[in-house]
Amino acid sequence: MSAVDAEGRSLLVGACGAANVLNLPSYLQTLRQVPGLRVKVIMTPTATRFVPVRTVRLVSDAVFCDGEDNFEPGHARLADWADLFIVLPATAHVLAQAAQGYAGSLLTATLLAYEGSVIFFPSMNAAMWRKPAVQRNVAQLAADRHRIAGPVMTQCWEIDEDGMRPGLGLPSPSQVAAIIKDIVTTPGMDPGQGGEES
Ligand SMILES: Cc1cc2nc3c(=O)[nH]c(=O)nc-3n(C[C@H](O)[C@H](O)[C@H](O)COP(=O)(O)O)c2cc1C
Repeated sequence: MSAVDAEGRSLLVGACGAANVLNLPSYLQTLRQVPGLRVKVIMTPTATRFVPVRTVRLVSDAVFCDGEDNFEPGHARLADWADLFIVLPATAHVLAQAAQGYAGSLLTATLLAYEGSVIFFPSMNAAMWRKPAVQRNVAQLAADRHRIAGPVMTQCWEIDEDGMRPGLGLPSPSQVAAIIKDIVTTPGMDPGQGGEES
């Protein structure tokens, strides 16, 4: 299949309240360097408590959150708009909601309304990631034709230890951008292919 330009392709990024959401602006800056790619963000209420919405607005085409002021566009139009939908970082909480089909927030309602395969980038500590409940949810999402990218071993900021330590984290911004670029520039490529990869 021949590669085409990403011109006019639309990427929706769901951001959850994992500690790694602090790095979201760096990921968005890198993604916005993919030529022609439009990037909009949906933040969970918890994510907005970690990172100000106005910061995310500086490095995206638009940001949407829960609340009375955000009727338009709703979950159905946002889902329609997206050519590709990723969740980065994905908390254990949102993985569970998505696996079960809960739709109690703008992000989870949009995930449910979206017809394609979603790429989830889980971000949590090793103890959480190893939990059978989390692994069951991840397996369910893969069985539903979504893709689980990571987590990967990297240097992480450990809140309790107040320092950098090797741990489970997200692929780097350039690795994430490479995955996205590959999908949006390859006609017919299914984001769900790959299933679970960690
Ligand atoms: C300081 C702090 C860091 C957290 N980091 C993570 C994390 O890395 N991964 C995770 O799954 N949950 C983490 N949590 C728990 C989530 O914030 C919590 O489950 C929240 O309900 C997630 O909401 P959301 O998934 O709707 O964004 C953290 C909580 C706190 C207070």
